[in-house]
Amino acid sequence: MHRIYLDANATTPLLPEVFEAMRPFYLEHYGNASSIHQQGQHARAAVDHAREAVARMLHCRPAEVVFTSGGTESDNLAIFGVLSPGDHLVTSSIEHHAVLHAAHSLESRGVEVTFLPVTAEGIVEPAELLAALKPNTKLVSIMYANNETGVIQPIDALAGIAHAGGALFHTDAVQAGGKLSLDVSAHGLLKDVDMLTLSGHKIFAPKGIGILYVRRNVRLSPMFHGGSHERQRRAGTENVPGIVAFGKAVEIGTEWLKGDGPTKLAARRDRLEKGILAAVDETGVNSGASSRVANTTSIYFDHVEAEALLIALDLKGISVSGGSACQSGASEPSHVLTAMGLSPARARATIRFSLSKLTTEAEVDDVLRILPEAVAHLRTLSPTYQAAKATTV
Ligand SMILES: Cc1ncc(COP(=O)(O)O)c(C=O)c1O
Repeated sequence: MHRIYLDANATTPLLPEVFEAMRPFYLEHYGNASSIHQQGQHARAAVDHAREAVARMLHCRPAEVVFTSGGTESDNLAIFGVLSPGDHLVTSSIEHHAVLHAAHSLESRGVEVTFLPVTAEGIVEPAELLAALKPNTKLVSIMYANNETGVIQPIDALAGIAHAGGALFHTDAVQAGGKLSLDVSAHGLLKDVDMLTLSGHKIFAPKGIGILYVRRNVRLSPMFHGGSHERQRRAGTENVPGIVAFGKAVEIGTEWLKGDGPTKLAARRDRLEKGILAAVDETGVNSGASSRVANTTSIYFDHVEAEALLIALDLKGISVSGGSACQSGASEPSHVLTAMGLSPARARATIRFSLSKLTTEAEVDDVLRILPEAVAHLRTLSPTYQAAKATTV
């Protein structure tokens, strides 16, 4: 069965070109990038090349790019790296758990934390941040694009407010990578961003590689103690194949962003969204009125358990996610959707469709053919739906 993969926010496949770029660094050029001999130097040159590719994408200096094991580590490094007991951290209630749980952990160690609310559309309002700042606010960490809804936060305004208040600004840009242009230079939208997280496996590179951009003047304490890798910001032998792959994925992604790919992807997502809303009653798009990344739509199907729909679609060859994939297995309604004011029932009735540049028009057609039937079938088993229908007849 041809599978239709609409879960790109959970992870993306490795592009063949990316795999080919990293492959020799497992089999032939396996030197340690810290070794002095030629094999080591070959690995070092490849790491440097990848670092330069990332720096070109972010419009920063190569030395400001720290390679890590992924988004979770980068988020933790940014947060644990600058905060000490007595400091104040401001973050939002819709962050990924990599940020939220790091914040909770610091709270138990004497760091004051404020979790900002979001609007019904899932937006962190700059005025809320302004009101939350205190003299001891050391760091503000707000994600760029949300993994569940795709909502893009007003990062330029938020980072500007943090800086004006004397705080550093970190953004988890894992879901913005490869979808939005990222420019931290003095002329860029992200000019006030001091630290920025990206993850390889959301941009067609492998799992287990990511970066933290750290602006030159930021003093960061490392989380790991060991060798002096990554300019003493992240000890541990470099994952050379992963780094090479990350650099290659960044080069491919940057080219893709310059073309008409994002517009086409958004059109495909919009066609899917409109098609679902037209074919299925008692549905709606979460954060549909907000500015969102091109690939994501979060749709609720009232009177349906998302988990049941997810399994029904899976059996038909369609991979989607209910809320955040990182929470799969947990039956708690999504913290993102409940923070936006959705009822637990509606949050549990929500499915996230996350397309990628590999999604075809034919796949969208197939989903539009299969999904309404699956929802209709599940609703025949739903007492609340049947009761609602009986009263409207
Ligand atoms: C917004 C966001 N931040 C952080 C992460 C964690 O990244 P990683 O899986 O590379 O640790 C994810 C993964 O889903 C994410 O969506």
